[in-house]
Amino acid sequence: MFTLAHLSDPHLAPLPSPHWSELIGKRVTGYINWQQKRRFIHDPAALAAIVADIKAQKPDHIAVTGDIANIALPAEFPRGRDWLEGLGSAHDVTLVPGNHDIYVREAASFAGRQWGEYMCDDDGVSGFPFVRRRGNIALIGLSTGVPTAPFLATGWLGTEQLAELAAMLNKLKTENVFRVVLIHHPPISQSGRQKQLLDAPVLKRVIAAHGADLLLHGHDHLNMINWLVGPNATRVPAVGVPSASARPGGDKNSAAYNLYRIDGTSSAWSCELISRGVGPSGEVAQRQRLMLSG
Ligand SMILES: [Fe+2]
Repeated sequence: MFTLAHLSDPHLAPLPSPHWSELIGKRVTGYINWQQKRRFIHDPAALAAIVADIKAQKPDHIAVTGDIANIALPAEFPRGRDWLEGLGSAHDVTLVPGNHDIYVREAASFAGRQWGEYMCDDDGVSGFPFVRRRGNIALIGLSTGVPTAPFLATGWLGTEQLAELAAMLNKLKTENVFRVVLIHHPPISQSGRQKQLLDAPVLKRVIAAHGADLLLHGHDHLNMINWLVGPNATRVPAVGVPSASARPGGDKNSAAYNLYRIDGTSSAWSCELISRGVGPSGEVAQRQRLMLSG
């Protein structure tokens, strides 16, 4: 039995005070949005309760699907590193970036410098996709974070990354591993085009051709389960979690995370999903439990 915890979109608060010279381009609208709206949504106490509850569950590994930062100020990256180290070591925690982490062009190098050990393969090689093996689990990390124009939160994988993903999934299919794809943007979403993964149709074709056992995402800040088409009439669950710092009582689901209890072999995997979330009084409790396979 392998227990994988998944959280996403911690959007660490409060936002560090920006230097005026850092408020350029998209950061201007992002900063206004933070001051007017987002700072009332993302609550450090809710995030601390989620992290404490994850640790109490003693998972074998923790996956974080991006949006540690808010407007990718330089000061958000070392602070993100401190938060990651508080969550666990780079061996025990795997990260993929979100659109708020790659908000502006220079952010990719900040993320690489500060968070690179959490976003690399087992040999320490950076780049996307990467594969990490833990027990009989293979974690495949993708990056959809690209700088976009103000008011856009779209994601993009690109031809090269999708081709490498296809080859990776195909190779792993021949091994006795449970393949977990980690991605920030959901492949299926009800949100508007300005928030979507623009090459999601190609990702879905790759999954349909080569399969996967589970896909985990964030971005929409909602509890979501969608089923992707896999090879030979199989179905692949794509599961999203709310922001891990969402204050209860807001427009979207309050802070939560998911635990996956994975067992079996490639001939018959079983995977149970357990959701745990913050209630109105701030305590974390189980919200949902269901079998995804097996
Ligand atoms: Fe987010």
